[in-house]
Amino acid sequence: MSDDSYELPVPASVLPNLRVAILGAGKMGGILLQAFLKNNLLLPDQLVATVQHPDRALALSAQFGVNVGTDNLAAAREADVILLGVKPIQVPALIAEILPALTPAKLLLSFAASVKTRSIEDAAGCDLAVIRAMPNTPALLSAGATALCSGRFVSPEQIALALRIFSTVGRSVVVDEKHMDAVTGLSGSGPAFLYIIIEALAEAGVNVGLPRDVATMLAAQTAYGSARMVLETGYHPALLKDAVTTPAGTTVDGILALEEGGLRATLINAVKRATERARELAAG
Ligand SMILES: NC(=O)c1ccc[n+]([C@@H]2O[C@H](COP(=O)([O-])OP(=O)(O)OC[C@H]3O[C@@H](n4cnc5c(N)ncnc54)[C@H](OP(=O)(O)O)[C@@H]3O)[C@@H](O)[C@H]2O)c1
Repeated sequence: MSDDSYELPVPASVLPNLRVAILGAGKMGGILLQAFLKNNLLLPDQLVATVQHPDRALALSAQFGVNVGTDNLAAAREADVILLGVKPIQVPALIAEILPALTPAKLLLSFAASVKTRSIEDAAGCDLAVIRAMPNTPALLSAGATALCSGRFVSPEQIALALRIFSTVGRSVVVDEKHMDAVTGLSGSGPAFLYIIIEALAEAGVNVGLPRDVATMLAAQTAYGSARMVLETGYHPALLKDAVTTPAGTTVDGILALEEGGLRATLINAVKRATERARELAAG
């Protein structure tokens, strides 16, 4: 190798001085891990993650070039921000395990459904900054919707940091914690409701003679485009609906069928029922 050879400098990450641990890098934790790396939010050496099974830890380490292990306490000690991604029922045991690492200097960001910030603060036994997040699965394509809420010891800078972290997987909003069950019912469960709507529209396309692949693409792209119209124009959905609905045209006949079938009330009930279930789970 010649003397004048040189290595390209590694570009800095967006959050260069932050060390992050993801405890429970399963489906959702894994999505976040990949998004942080892909968007250069953090470099691999700023990240550490844990899972339960050592073989999965090895596989994830190899896949992402990140230190993935099974030692939660060591991972928590190393980190400035600890993301909690285990199942809700596993949260108390995990908090007990990492207790010696929990100090007011750390930020704990939990995305375990239905686990209240207060229960984590109480278990931590110090003025720990706890932020609770409810992301959803379209986070995989950076098209997620996440709601965040603060515990009692969170600073405006820490909530801004959490918003920055979750902006790598889509849009984020801060809500009061009392709304988190409603968020779970709307955007947490919502992808499943919308898949059913897309599936039904595609089935309808097949029913009126379209090939299934064409019908599925048209249904999904129509849902995607309509969602973008709402988000990017800022117009009320009713106004956008009116723009498609010409007098005595085709759409208004379709809308009549939707109203006869009770689609609106059915969707309202679906979100209400999912919210009630989230409330039951939160109550234990
Ligand atoms: N999936 C969603 O749509 C979604 C949306 C919003 C919120 N959430 C929340 O995200 C959390 C995880 O859900 P998920 O769907 O990602 O579940 P998941 O795929 O089962 O992930 C759970 C992960 O936790 C790991 N784990 C279990 N015990 C552990 C321990 N003691 N120490 C370290 N890691 C441990 C598991 O390890 P192994 O891989 O080795 O088993 C697994 O990787 C849940 O609290 C859920 O409420 C999920």
